[in-house]
Amino acid sequence: MQNIKEYLNKHKDRFISELITLLKMPSVSADPAFTQDVLNTADAVKLALEEAGCDLVEIHETNGYPIVYGEKIINTELPTVLVYGHYDVQPPDPLGLWDSPPFEPVIKETELHPDGAIFARGACDDKGQMYMHVKALEFMIKTDQLPCNVKFMIEGEEEVGSANLGLFVAANKEKLKNDVILISDTGMIANDVPSITTGLRGLSYVEVEVTGPNRDLHSGLYGGAVANPINILAKMIASLHDENNHITIPGFYDRVEELSKEERAEMAKAPFSLEAYKKALNINAVYGEKGYSTNERNSIRPTLDVNGIWGGYIGEGAKTVIGAKAYAKISMRLVPNQDWKEITQLFKTHFESIAPEGVTVKVTPHHGGQAYVTPIDHIGYKAAAKAYETTFGKPPVPQRGGGSIPIVALFEKELESKTILMGFGLDSDAIHSPNEHFGIWNYLKGIETIPYFYENFVALQS
Ligand code: BES
Ligand code: MN
Ligand code: MN
Repeated sequence: MQNIKEYLNKHKDRFISELITLLKMPSVSADPAFTQDVLNTADAVKLALEEAGCDLVEIHETNGYPIVYGEKIINTELPTVLVYGHYDVQPPDPLGLWDSPPFEPVIKETELHPDGAIFARGACDDKGQMYMHVKALEFMIKTDQLPCNVKFMIEGEEEVGSANLGLFVAANKEKLKNDVILISDTGMIANDVPSITTGLRGLSYVEVEVTGPNRDLHSGLYGGAVANPINILAKMIASLHDENNHITIPGFYDRVEELSKEERAEMAKAPFSLEAYKKALNINAVYGEKGYSTNERNSIRPTLDVNGIWGGYIGEGAKTVIGAKAYAKISMRLVPNQDWKEITQLFKTHFESIAPEGVTVKVTPHHGGQAYVTPIDHIGYKAAAKAYETTFGKPPVPQRGGGSIPIVALFEKELESKTILMGFGLDSDAIHSPNEHFGIWNYLKGIETIPYFYENFVALQS
């Protein structure tokens, strides 16, 4: 029987060029200007699953973008792996900061990717990582080594909150029935430090609007005498953290899961260089909640960040004006046991309560989701860890991630199965940023590792 390394050597050029073709499709789910491109990308994913050897592939329409479902059922007595991924991507802006156009993929070497990396929006998040699963499936089917059943569910609205996927999952529990869910949409520590993400943070995303006078005012005629919504908003936002960088919203920490000393000591063993971290971001100091390390701040602790703020005059030159309104978009990353709807309500009540006289405040919730944790004694985790040991030559480090894939907690609730997060990206791959890229080595390593997960998972069942 052919092994995966031989198969990769023979087909890797095609695997790379197929991914490049997918990356040329600008499937930006947030921007209606790309509607047709997003729909075309769903069709391309459908075709890819058919070509890989699925015996059923369907496009499920939703109120938003379609969900591509594919399956290969070899024996209903055998376990079933459900693969989830997303074919939509973040908007590419700011376009001016890209070294090459976001939807014209190029391969370039970088310090961390001496074998080259594909630069394009979606290269790592999540087309490249999703496509590893399609190619691993192709290998297992074409060489007659698929050891169990497999289902694929690839959505087109992850980057905008997966509003329709939850409905699809709830309505199709039997169809999606599985023994474990497998996702590659996270990262790992370094190419020589394999790690598996064992947790995701929850999210509450809100937009706030502060309204002052009924029209924009001359900042000389009215300045100093009327509440300036931008000044007020800045003050209100600043008050959301105290001098220790704790969040000041009453009740915010009430349900936060505190880790034991032992667990924190275990976490601190993961290789990490603060110097390298600062150097990579060109900052002279890190910043965050007192009493926690950088790795704790970005994984096991909840946060509140302004993602965008605007109002008044931001055009060329100077205009003397007091804008009638000011706005901000705010995200809160949540940890296990915090409930995103409750946190959204706590934020709303607090933010409205701190508004001074002279302005009115409106808080509009966007989307959110719960945090998630994978127990490392789950057989899916063990199967993954063993797969990494085979292909990386060393065991992976379990590591809580800071990002969110809100649908994962919903999978657990609706489908009653755990998710294993086998991410192969690096933090420096610039997801959501200009010059997003994915290492060729990482792409091929992912394709190489995934079939071992299947083999181990089936073997560990009995
Ligand atoms: N793939 C990311 C999430 C991620 C990346 C988790 C790296 C862990 C490590 C996903 O596509 C994403 O961007 N999620 C959003 C939330 C979503 C509701 C827009 C996020 O985390 O901001
Ligand atoms: Mn993603
Ligand atoms: Mn993303």
